[in-house]
Amino acid sequence: MYYPDELVEEIRSRCDIVDTLSQFISLQKKGSNYVCCCPFHNEKTPSFHVSRNKQMYKCFGCGEGGNVFTFLQRYENMTFPEAVEYLAPIAGVTLPERDNSKEAKERAGKRAKIFELNKDAANYFYRVLWDENRGKLGMQYLKKRGLTEETIKHFALGFAPTDSREIVRYLKSKGYSDEEIIESGIANFSEKYGMSSPFWNRVMFPILDEQGKVLGFGGRVMGDGEPKYLNSPETVVFNKRQNLFGFVFAKKARKDRFILCEGYMDVISLHQAGFTEAVAALGTAFTGEQARLLKRYSGNIYLSFDSDGAGVKAAMRAIDMFRQREIMAKVINMKPYKDPDEFIKALGADEYEQRIANAEDGFFFQVKTKENEHNLNDYAEKTKFHHEIAEFLATMDDPLLRDNYLEAVARDKGINKEHLREAVAKEALELANRQQREELRSADGKKTSKEDHIRHTEQLLLTYLLEEDGLYAQIEQYLSDDDFTNELYKNVAAMFFRELKSGNKPNPAGIVSKFEDANEQSEVSALFTTRIEELTDKKDREKAFLDILIKVKQNSFEKWKAENGNDLSVLGEEINRKKALEELKKINIRL
Ligand code: GTP
Ligand code: MN
Repeated sequence: MYYPDELVEEIRSRCDIVDTLSQFISLQKKGSNYVCCCPFHNEKTPSFHVSRNKQMYKCFGCGEGGNVFTFLQRYENMTFPEAVEYLAPIAGVTLPERDNSKEAKERAGKRAKIFELNKDAANYFYRVLWDENRGKLGMQYLKKRGLTEETIKHFALGFAPTDSREIVRYLKSKGYSDEEIIESGIANFSEKYGMSSPFWNRVMFPILDEQGKVLGFGGRVMGDGEPKYLNSPETVVFNKRQNLFGFVFAKKARKDRFILCEGYMDVISLHQAGFTEAVAALGTAFTGEQARLLKRYSGNIYLSFDSDGAGVKAAMRAIDMFRQREIMAKVINMKPYKDPDEFIKALGADEYEQRIANAEDGFFFQVKTKENEHNLNDYAEKTKFHHEIAEFLATMDDPLLRDNYLEAVARDKGINKEHLREAVAKEALELANRQQREELRSADGKKTSKEDHIRHTEQLLLTYLLEEDGLYAQIEQYLSDDDFTNELYKNVAAMFFRELKSGNKPNPAGIVSKFEDANEQSEVSALFTTRIEELTDKKDREKAFLDILIKVKQNSFEKWKAENGNDLSVLGEEINRKKALEELKKINIRL
């Protein structure tokens, strides 16, 4: 599937990042870097930096970062091999037949295995559902909800039997190991129950990716019960931020519009009624990545959220999310029904189509929602309302678009146009400042949970080691890739240390391309582009580095203890580890 690392690296090193990106975006030279407004999020002041030195880019606004390959994957929606193939002729490199590097093969192998397992599980749930005895309750439930057999088959719905170990036994009989089953999220291990699945006595909704591969499941209780929906956890194959329920069918439908709703049942009902362009988020709030995914196929977005308070709130957020990506979403009015599923059942497809035709512009929906929150007879509140309008307008980048809305809302709400314009200009400035402040905050570590903190520390450690030549040699004996608790960082550290040990200067952009997944690439590049706090004094930097190293080791020790601490046979090792940690506190670092 993949090309040999050396070749990928050769292509990357021959395709200068500034030259390559300049084909797509217009970069301005600033100091030793190149900058422009970020192509991945909406902004007014440039936070997108490209470094010729590091051959990487990074947006300090939204966090996107990577090398030439990552950029093509993100910007042009290519897969990693496609990006390699795109750049090969530019680099003057002839590609052989696709070949596997060892790491890529292992990772690809693992992912393929989980996909296969998920598919087997989906098949199993499907068969149980259609088994007249065992699936009866599930089938009754789905039919009661108005689904036809055709729809049930189309979405490959299933039923998880009441015995929570049955699916485990089945998967084991197919040759999957406990580890693989746990990794897929279909079952857990506990001392008390052994291997068992949280999915039991539920109707099962397989969640598919763009190609129709099974990413995970949503399981619904039949009737009342908590939780109503149980969703698979994120796994090596399942990223909830980047996929949408129903998308594989909606994409194929090629309708040049999408209907975004809240629930799986909404999507299924809509598809059954002929609205095959319906999609939903995966049990989590709608994300910018999902907005971007839809934008690739169509800019006509209709929101069909629940008509309750939570639905309105979610719609307000989604409208912002789309507007930041230059999409003006529209809102379908579902009243007096709760959600599209109920609407369709009550009034049918024609009425729904009518509601689509009458959908309200997202901006005016937001204005109306805010208006309802204020008592406009109170002048202070009325003024606040007008400022909120200015805030919405300020997020529109295109001056013509902004003007059109401004004129319309000023007329509509009887606001002085010039004053509104001034308020918008002020908001826009504040927005830019806020973005800048956020950049600064994310650059020096915002207040976060312990886990984020550890992660950030591991990140800084790698960044230091990369930036400062000769540092690794001083601490080599104390640190191994196993000290990193984050799986991704561990992999990076392993590659990184291997290169350092063999006396090469590691090149970040090269390490980035060893990861196939665009998300991982971004995360890995963040490692190499995190700004170390501006400590000008060498002594301060030496101390800061040692502190970071100790923190990482301390955490690694704690983790090891949590895993092995009760075992007397490792007492000797515990003492050794503790000693090593104490020793580390005494060493001197020379920069
Ligand atoms: P029905 O009651 O079956 O019609 O559900 P719905 O499709 O209308 O879903 P609802 O509007 O209640 O919730 C929207 C989405 O949120 C669901 O499709 C799930 O993805 C998610 N969700 C709902 N309830 C839960 C829950 O209890 N836990 C989790 N993790 N997700 C939930
Ligand atoms: Mn519902």
